[in-house]
Amino acid sequence: MRRNDGARAAFEAVYSESADPWASASHHYRYQSLKYDRMIALLPRRRFDNALDLGCGLGLLSQKLAKRAEHVLGLDIATAAIDRARRSSAAFPNLEFERGDILNLPPTLNGKFDLVVVADVLYYLSPLDEQVLKSVVRRIADLLSPGGICLLANHFFFSADPDSKVSRNIHRSFSDCPRFEVMSEHRRAFFLATLLSEQPQLVSA
Ligand SMILES: C[S@@+](CC[C@H](N)C(=O)[O-])C[C@H]1O[C@@H](n2cnc3c(N)ncnc32)[C@H](O)[C@@H]1O
Repeated sequence: MRRNDGARAAFEAVYSESADPWASASHHYRYQSLKYDRMIALLPRRRFDNALDLGCGLGLLSQKLAKRAEHVLGLDIATAAIDRARRSSAAFPNLEFERGDILNLPPTLNGKFDLVVVADVLYYLSPLDEQVLKSVVRRIADLLSPGGICLLANHFFFSADPDSKVSRNIHRSFSDCPRFEVMSEHRRAFFLATLLSEQPQLVSA
């Protein structure tokens, strides 16, 4: 993978300019909290052992995951986001946050999670060409334990909207990857969600 210092600096700046850049905690603009609830509702009803929230931002979705999993790790490229997520999640003993870059995740995380959630993060990767996307999709598959689940969500307004096309392309990269089987696909206001299951790879003799 590659160094991503520019992206890190850009997101640190975003978090230094605003306490809540995506209105995740806003009581007036409830889109994000509704998105989190709708995402959680898409998960199978069972409890999870180890969940990962990749690009967790302020950790509000991580907090909801903490009610469904024994342990949750939130990772974000921005230290400022992680610091705030830690402060607001002190009441969740099974929730921890670390700084981490999706493009440079350590191999020690491989196979550790039975649930990985990636919400509104991947379209920020630049460049986001087919090669980068394929490699990120495989990297996320590597993080899952056999049969583990990935919940992917990205904003979606309407088919001809350029940003929505990017989201559609991201979801297609996951559904086309032989490491994943699509469990279900959903269109909600205003995001796409895909639930995928990791396919254990056959090792040839
Ligand atoms: C729009 S916010 C979404 C936050 C959260 N997932 C949610 O749905 O509320 C995008 C987040 O992705 C993080 N991010 C962007 N690029 C990243 C990368 N390469 N690795 C990890 N996090 C990244 C940003 O710092 C930011 O917190």
